Amino acid sequence: MQDHDRITHVIAVGNQKGGVGKTTNTVHLAAALGQMGKKCLVWDLDMNHGATLHLGVPPEAFDGTFLVLTEERTPEEVIITEHEQDLELPENVHLIPSSRELERLEAVLAAKDRFYDARRILINPLRRLRGQYDYIFLDTAPNATAPTIASYVGADWFVISVIPESFALNGMRECLKDIRRARQPELNPNLALLGIIVSGLDQRITLARQYTAEIHESFKVEGSPSRMFDTTISRAAVIPRVQKLGKSLFQTDPTHKVAKQYLSLASEMDRRVQDLRGEALRASKGVANG
Ligand SMILES: Nc1ncnc2c1ncn2[C@@H]1O[C@H](COP(=O)(O)OP(=O)(O)OP(=O)(O)O)[C@@H](O)[C@H]1O
Ligand SMILES: [Mg+2]
Repeated sequence: MQDHDRITHVIAVGNQKGGVGKTTNTVHLAAALGQMGKKCLVWDLDMNHGATLHLGVPPEAFDGTFLVLTEERTPEEVIITEHEQDLELPENVHLIPSSRELERLEAVLAAKDRFYDARRILINPLRRLRGQYDYIFLDTAPNATAPTIASYVGADWFVISVIPESFALNGMRECLKDIRRARQPELNPNLALLGIIVSGLDQRITLARQYTAEIHESFKVEGSPSRMFDTTISRAAVIPRVQKLGKSLFQTDPTHKVAKQYLSLASEMDRRVQDLRGEALRASKGVANG
């Protein structure tokens, strides 16, 4: 397939609680889809640059998110690809890295234009990238900084990461409220909740099972199927280990149970995207014809 011909799905991965698996899920979903032949971009929107480190990229060594959002560089100028020497990204995965500099973003934008609209800073850069990737994943920070809010306005889909603990479930409810707010007609009326990923699951712990059941129940609205993905990701000590190494499981332990779970989650997600998109297209044709 030619580049620029692709139908690009932009997925924001969120939960404003910290340490709930957003970065791990982003990196592993992109790597799993990459294995399946899909072209993916991971865009690190967090000043703590978790995805950048997880992909083995030294954050201060490359231009990235800060310069794109301050319009000093185009996204294409900063994307790190498989051609970058000394780095080893997962197959079919590219990265826009982040760094501490992102801390200054809001001050710099306000100094340039006091009327700038922080909510819309991702729209133009994403428009340029559409057509070049199958999936663009936006890895967000655990707070409502400008890039996090902008991800709700720029994305097509939202995926919520949760771990089965009460604080993470509260964060999930906050996310749902933010999705509703972002759907205002003048912001992003088409933003859809793609699904909820439950990870770090220890099946032996009854409480974890109860929380998972609770998530399922919360998302069975009006008889529709729950939005929680059927595939859950187990807790495994190998995850923090590969994160520190700057690698995905697909590069170090491709036969590990959790690598297989991520492949299954990625297929489920891809199928859901195609199904929901098909439904939306049929609905819009129905409206046009009716
Ligand atoms: N399935 C898992 N099993 C064991 N540990 C995990 C698993 N998933 C994530 N972790 C670990 O939990 C910690 C938090 O994960 P991660 O960095 O992905 O969360 P996050 O939501 O992106 O955090 P932040 O909000 O700080 O960016 C990390 O140390 C990670 O290695
Ligand atoms: Mg993170």
